[in-house]
Amino acid sequence: MCSDRSKVKETLINSSANEMKHEAHGTQQPRHIDKIGEGASAAQRSDSLVQPINQRFLNNPNRITPVDPAIEAYMRDLAKRTDHPVLAEMEAFAQAHQFPIVNRLAGIFLETQAKMIGAKRVFEFGSGYGYSAYWFARAVGEGGCVVCCDSDARNLERAQRYLSQTNLWERVQFNVGMAQAVFAQTDGLFDICYNDADKGDYPQIWLMAKQRIRPGGLYIADNVLWQGRVTMPAYHDSAMGSTAAIVEHNRLIFNDPEFDAFINPTRDGLVVARRK
Ligand SMILES: C[S@@+](CC[C@H](N)C(=O)[O-])C[C@H]1O[C@@H](n2cnc3c(N)ncnc32)[C@H](O)[C@@H]1O
Repeated sequence: MCSDRSKVKETLINSSANEMKHEAHGTQQPRHIDKIGEGASAAQRSDSLVQPINQRFLNNPNRITPVDPAIEAYMRDLAKRTDHPVLAEMEAFAQAHQFPIVNRLAGIFLETQAKMIGAKRVFEFGSGYGYSAYWFARAVGEGGCVVCCDSDARNLERAQRYLSQTNLWERVQFNVGMAQAVFAQTDGLFDICYNDADKGDYPQIWLMAKQRIRPGGLYIADNVLWQGRVTMPAYHDSAMGSTAAIVEHNRLIFNDPEFDAFINPTRDGLVVARRK
């Protein structure tokens, strides 16, 4: 049983109630940003489900794929042994709904990083329906705990359904609500803090998380190359400020004397910063 589970209840209940309130009254929700393109809010994302993917890429004509797709396909082929029916189902859901999960290669990378440092306690900022948590939950083993957070209550039910099928749900504590608030209410140090929330929140989340990572532990964040926008003097930024936030986030990490950092360019770039 996930050791953090006892602390969740109140957050979960309160947050679920808040979520329902948001939905009922249309009050402001956290921003959402697609990994594969633009998109700023949950409502906009639903609209985008009917928009062909090519149309969406037109919004960012200067998009750069960090690693050539042929190379990624080759690497994916090498990793066939990780094929699992539930993973395939989760990936098919992402494809059908254009939901921005990390992909298979990034997932394997997360699991490997977590295993390398013997991680037992992981905090996720932005869990979606549990795809990245699947990889962390495998790594932490029995008795380990992955604290998940997502602002969209629908993802709790999906995550539970998928992760129960793999017997990993017991290692997960899923909170519905703003990850920063859940983090502030959760005590102790983490082996890994993983950031995959709205990009505008990246600098704030780094500053919060870095103080709560144990020495030798890792901060990992996805999308830090942001389809190459971080290199461009001009870009299309539909979620206003997201590129500037990622650039600032990356600058803060690489200038922090307490951490050693590296960017793995797989997919959209994952930064790994190890606390000294
Ligand atoms: C990129 S997706 C996460 C995907 C997930 N990490 C995976 O790879 O399977 C981002 C998710 O974070 C949620 N989100 C964004 N900002 C958040 C925040 N500040 N707190 C909680 N959830 C957030 C969104 O609802 C969305 O489901």
